[in-house]
Amino acid sequence: MPDRYAVIGNPIAHSKSPAIHAAFAEQTGQDIHYGRLLGALDDFATDVRRFFDEGGRGLNVTVPFKEQAWDLADERSPRAELAGAVNTLIRIGDSGIRGDNTDGVGLIRDLSINHGFDFKDTSVLLLGAGGASRGVLLPLLESGLGRLLIANRTAAKAHQLAELGAKLGPVEGCGLDQLAGERFDLIINATSAGLSNAVPPIPDDCLASGGWTYDMLYGDTPTAFCRWGAEHGAKRTPDGLGMLVEQAAESFFLWRGIRPETTNVIKGLRQTR
Ligand code: ATR
Repeated sequence: MPDRYAVIGNPIAHSKSPAIHAAFAEQTGQDIHYGRLLGALDDFATDVRRFFDEGGRGLNVTVPFKEQAWDLADERSPRAELAGAVNTLIRIGDSGIRGDNTDGVGLIRDLSINHGFDFKDTSVLLLGAGGASRGVLLPLLESGLGRLLIANRTAAKAHQLAELGAKLGPVEGCGLDQLAGERFDLIINATSAGLSNAVPPIPDDCLASGGWTYDMLYGDTPTAFCRWGAEHGAKRTPDGLGMLVEQAAESFFLWRGIRPETTNVIKGLRQTR
């Protein structure tokens, strides 16, 4: 019997995770089965317990359950602890569950390894102060960057998030309307504005010469924020498809102890979308 894994979310039908993990398993010769689970909106914990009680080895957790997964984990990694959210659950011992969060390392690996962005001493603007931003905060602060500014429509939330990270690295928070005169080497969009095809209102000239944009969203066509980057002289404008594959690769590594190759998997997803 292959070891069982799954992604749990609601909705879940369109998740790309089963295809990604099937590709990793084939490539590494691992005998696993990776399925999809539609989690009950009012009883997520029961669904998780049942999966593990029936012998499941690990789960990926997606919207809207990442915070609930954090709550039910028996122990958590430091990056999950700071993220306040868990996207990977791992069976430990006979009945324990460990929670981790691989989103941030997925972002850093996609930018630095797949695209060649060098974080060292850079000035980085992170747009948004919701779950997506908090999820990547610790790996960003550990990336070697010189300065991280979190800017949010609701300034108070940016200040709160910056406070959480302040002991760990050079981070500040501000409102989106406080960016005049600022210049950044990299602007990361972690807002949900793109879901309605919008872009956070930021100054036209806040990208430094040679600067990059990165949209944590991805789509079949360039996202609104990728288009913003291209229109404002960004050197590169990656979307979040690579991050999706990299966070999956890190989960696979946590479960199986093997790091899959991601380049061809990302290429394959780009061709089929
Ligand atoms: P997620 O878990 O995806 O981060 P969230 O917690 O609801 O979702 O956070 C969404 C983020 O996108 C917030 O930072 C939100 O700003 P507010 O805190 O001011 O609500 C931001 N956001 C959503 N739509 C936006 C828009 N049109 N312009 C700017 N920011 C937007």
